[in-house]
Amino acid sequence: MEQRRLGPVVGLGTWNTFGDDSATAASVVDAAVAAGCRVFDSSPMYGGAERSLGTALAPRRDEVSVATKIWAGSVEEGREQYARQLEWFGRVEIEQIHNLQSWEQHLPWLEREREAGSIDRLGVTHYAAGRFDELAQALRTGRFDVVQLPLNPSERDCERELLPLAAELGIAVIVMRPLGEGALVHRSPPAETLAELGVETWPQALLKWALSDERVDLVIPATRNPEHARANAAAGEPPWFDAEQRRLVERLAA
Ligand SMILES: NC(=O)c1ccc[n+]([C@@H]2O[C@H](COP(=O)([O-])OP(=O)(O)OC[C@H]3O[C@@H](n4cnc5c(N)ncnc54)[C@H](OP(=O)(O)O)[C@@H]3O)[C@@H](O)[C@H]2O)c1
Repeated sequence: MEQRRLGPVVGLGTWNTFGDDSATAASVVDAAVAAGCRVFDSSPMYGGAERSLGTALAPRRDEVSVATKIWAGSVEEGREQYARQLEWFGRVEIEQIHNLQSWEQHLPWLEREREAGSIDRLGVTHYAAGRFDELAQALRTGRFDVVQLPLNPSERDCERELLPLAAELGIAVIVMRPLGEGALVHRSPPAETLAELGVETWPQALLKWALSDERVDLVIPATRNPEHARANAAAGEPPWFDAEQRRLVERLAA
């Protein structure tokens, strides 16, 4: 799989998929790792997902990166979340402030943890275009290494300001909702059209669409199906789409 700044370009999200179901987490994570995925995204917001992800990653912890989040209204609560993450993951490669929640309060203590070496990169996320001005303001502080935002053919607001800004500031980009929370995969174009795009499945076309923007480092599709995890990982191989192929995917997704 192609590698960019955060490692292999297809990772795995964990919202609303396996929760605290450790058996599902283990089978999906096994399939994703075997297919070359190395970055796993979670959050205290995702029910028991951090705990089940920690158990699933434990046998190969040195080979993978954890991208999780602090989702807390106070520093005290944020520190409690971080203490549990250290128990589950040992360290956190990418620690993100979830949905900009109290980001100005959390930044100083998270920066100290990054300096101490138990966090490699600090990130910030939001899913709503209505909060992108504030997300841009957070990036302009120069204190974040990573931003996580939505990008798929139906959600392109980040192309206006955030992607150019991230590129200008050297901030790595994680794409959430690359399949539109599953809404874009309900129907698929015919096999001939997929063959024309050089992919086997429609979700692969959508993932390649996002990864064909060179400002994107990582897509994190979520699934509770090991077969889907394997198929999604295959989208991380070049060649990438040219402008015409991207437009075709946009028309097919409309
Ligand atoms: N504010 C934030 O920080 C924020 C917000 C939203 C999301 N996120 C992160 O981004 C991740 C991804 O976003 P998302 O989970 O909202 O949506 P997504 O990855 O765009 O879509 C997930 C859905 O797509 C389906 N799917 C995945 N692969 C498939 C395949 N090959 N074929 C058919 N269906 C497939 C899954 O169902 P199956 O189980 O049937 O495969 C699931 O219902 C999240 O899990 C989370 O880690 C962060």
